[in-house]
Amino acid sequence: MTTILERTPTLQTKLPAVGTTIFTVMSTLAAETGAVNLGQGFPDFDCDPKLVNAVTDAMKQGLNQYPPMTGVPVLREAVAAKIAKLHGRNYSPNTEITITAGATQAIITAILAVVHPGDEVIVLEPCYDSYVPNIELAGGSVVRVPLTPGSFRPDFDRISAAITPKTRAILINSPHNPSGAVWLEADLLKLQDILAPTDVLLISDEVYEHMVFDAAKGQIHQSAARFPGLAARAFIVSSFGKTYHVTGWKVGYVAAPAALSAEFRKVHQFNVFTVNTPVQYGLAAYMADERPYLELPAFYQRKRDLFRAGLADTRFKLLPSEGTYFQCVDISEVSDLNEAEFCKWLTTEIGVAAIPLSAFYGDGFDQRVVRFCFAKKDETLNMALQRLAKL
Ligand SMILES: Cc1ncc(COP(=O)(O)O)c(C=O)c1O
Repeated sequence: MTTILERTPTLQTKLPAVGTTIFTVMSTLAAETGAVNLGQGFPDFDCDPKLVNAVTDAMKQGLNQYPPMTGVPVLREAVAAKIAKLHGRNYSPNTEITITAGATQAIITAILAVVHPGDEVIVLEPCYDSYVPNIELAGGSVVRVPLTPGSFRPDFDRISAAITPKTRAILINSPHNPSGAVWLEADLLKLQDILAPTDVLLISDEVYEHMVFDAAKGQIHQSAARFPGLAARAFIVSSFGKTYHVTGWKVGYVAAPAALSAEFRKVHQFNVFTVNTPVQYGLAAYMADERPYLELPAFYQRKRDLFRAGLADTRFKLLPSEGTYFQCVDISEVSDLNEAEFCKWLTTEIGVAAIPLSAFYGDGFDQRVVRFCFAKKDETLNMALQRLAKL
């Protein structure tokens, strides 16, 4: 009789560089120390009860079985109508809009659908932490192009120089996490020019589309949908979680021309197949009222201004926050620590958690800047500000 040993086979990891993310590390430290958590990007207030009621109603009506693979028609129609109204582009709800399990799944699905082993994919650093591992899982090579340190504006000379015959796609993100920078019309026009002679696809992560501030100064969200030469090659990704204060629901969408959507859906049907039914119906009903997303910029701009005013007398140097719910600050006048050490110190000694920008760079580039999230109740922000006032 052979002796059976309990032995788990040793794996060769597909993602050697991936460990526990800084968001988990900082949130755990914040919870252990009782710090105000301005680290991870999610609201500490609840969503509109009308939205919860709309989802509850859908459940009570028995809308609890598998929906169509691409999402329920009413939600796809609502998304297409919103894009047409805001950005003047008509996507077919049937063939060009797909409902996803959050933006995260939309992004990995788009990447898996189009990136072949050996293809190059350009990311602009600092960037959201899922992009690079997604490209690696698809067998692609990551080409990192830095945004200009300090301003976080795109450097189009460097972007152009990074494009080779092997470039399959470029990922962009405006409004931008972590910097809060927002791309201007001129930026998208320039990108459109650069991509025009190429077959490079665009993955445009627009999850903060409804958080662009300073409308009085003419700032609006410049969706890739507004630019025909970009829209024709783009997967445009968004997230209901950000727009409606329901990050835990993990529902988003992707808008893309029919040929791209068809490939996207081939992967989508085998990685999630579809997304939970009552939430989709609830969102569709709630979207009939456009005020919640149209009023979102004013809602967050007030919080941004409250937070910035509270930091004005500290030695933090405030960077612009043109969109998103993030405020970055330069820490060089406050501390000699590097960003990551500073964030740990700030959490344990001052009682406020933040995220180091170095976490958004492959090489841990440290520019003495950390990110705070102001998607919090005023009382949370005020408590954090009281603690930060010492600095
Ligand atoms: C830039 C960016 N893209 C994508 C996501 C993921 O969105 P979702 O929660 O809908 O998957 C986030 C969430 O923080 C984000 O900041």
